[in-house]
Amino acid sequence: MIEVAGITKLHGREVVLDDVSLTVGAGTQLALIGPGGAGKSLLIKIMAALVRPERGTVHVNGEDMLALNDVELARARASMGMLFQNYALFDFMTVEENIAFPLRQAGKLGEGEITERVAELLHQVDLPGIQKQYPRELSGGMKKRVTFARAVIHEPPLLFYDDPTAGLDPVTSSKIFILLDRMKRERGVTSVVITHDILGVRDICDEFVLLNHGRVVFRGTRDEIESSEVRFVQQFWRGESDE
Ligand SMILES: Nc1ncnc2c1ncn2[C@@H]1O[C@H](COP(=O)(O)OP(=O)(O)OP(=O)(O)O)[C@@H](O)[C@H]1O
Ligand SMILES: [Mg+2]
Repeated sequence: MIEVAGITKLHGREVVLDDVSLTVGAGTQLALIGPGGAGKSLLIKIMAALVRPERGTVHVNGEDMLALNDVELARARASMGMLFQNYALFDFMTVEENIAFPLRQAGKLGEGEITERVAELLHQVDLPGIQKQYPRELSGGMKKRVTFARAVIHEPPLLFYDDPTAGLDPVTSSKIFILLDRMKRERGVTSVVITHDILGVRDICDEFVLLNHGRVVFRGTRDEIESSEVRFVQQFWRGESDE
């Protein structure tokens, strides 16, 4: 479903992604983990063709994402949902307008149905009744959950979640991970989940990719990562420090 090959991205003279190749099979939920600054957010932005790499190829559903024109890109993006790490909510829109945005863009549902779906999603993320509030009135954790609702409302077959539980309390975090798991099981979505919460994703992801300094240093199943003999992989997975 997603295939990136030989991705190299520069930031000035610094190489921030270094020859990254990765495939995500249809229906797979893949966890992308790694230290801060490893290049995780950048990699999913390249997968969604929001950022162009200096080198490499990006295919989504067999389509060469780097060769599409603006109209084709808009169509391709309509099949994706993106939960941005920094929320990226429109601050001049209410919660309801923010969440409904991808649906209104798609233009397929009537207003009644849109209102219903927004209410249902807000209920699922434990924020019933906040439709008329503005993002500036919300806490970080509330914004995360609104961003989640906006990412999934148009039921895209492909989802990118960038740190979906950052700033959430443990109970709300596990609710979000349960929702992620349901997206996969019930809707068969393909997804990439960036997270620092390894305990949270351990049970719900099929594959784990560890990125460090812009390189893929490990890729495999939970069993494989748990039995890895590489010190850095072990340390990262268990949250151990050198000291
Ligand atoms: N559009 C861009 N073009 C070039 N370089 C970028 C771009 N966006 C971010 N970077 C650089 O890429 C590097 C990795 O950033 P990125 O945000 O992907 O890290 P991350 O792994 O998501 O970290 P964190 O866990 O802290 O969110 C940083 O050095 C950053 O400055
Ligand atoms: Mg990031």
